[in-house]
Amino acid sequence: MTSNEFTRRDMLTVAAAGTGALAGGSFPMTPAAAAPAKEGPESMPTLMDLSLSVNGKEHRLSLDPRTTLLDALREHLHLTGTKKGCDHGQCGACTVHVDGRRVNSCLKLAVMAEGAEVTTIEGLGDPDRLHPMQQAFVEHDGYQCGYCTSGQIMSAVAMMKEPWGSDDADIREAMSGNICRCGAYQNILAAIRQVRHG
Ligand code: FES
Ligand code: FES
Repeated sequence: MTSNEFTRRDMLTVAAAGTGALAGGSFPMTPAAAAPAKEGPESMPTLMDLSLSVNGKEHRLSLDPRTTLLDALREHLHLTGTKKGCDHGQCGACTVHVDGRRVNSCLKLAVMAEGAEVTTIEGLGDPDRLHPMQQAFVEHDGYQCGYCTSGQIMSAVAMMKEPWGSDDADIREAMSGNICRCGAYQNILAAIRQVRHG
């Protein structure tokens, strides 16, 4: 046995005995793990007062400044028509309009939308008076499970004001940020084509 091996074993024995592991006790807890989680005002996030204009209505909110626009809409204003798919800007399910432009609301902080006009699917039309794009999606069965549909419709409405061409390839490209896991793309395309070409 080398002096190095002896020293190492000796050190481990002393350490284990000190924590009770050799006495068959439970796994030793470090002081950090044993300490209760800190509670109280110092662990609370600082809330920020802000006002959001959504679908023509002003809302006063008190939010953690890290809250995304998507969570503010869904969790605080209960506008659940806007869906959370990936929460990472990959699927388009959370698309809303901010000052008329389409944005992925999961990528935008709510505080960044202060002073702007936000429109969600609830503000686009209602069951008795559908927006022409909503009507076209119904007529062409542009959805199956419906999870992506509000994002598809918000995106399709916004792209009408963007400088895209009018053929199918342009529409597909313009809508490529909106994923449909059900694969209803042909019907979505038909619905948009109907509105685009009147
Ligand atoms: S939830 Fe925002 S892009 Fe997927
Ligand atoms: S209709 Fe189901 S994900 Fe598009």
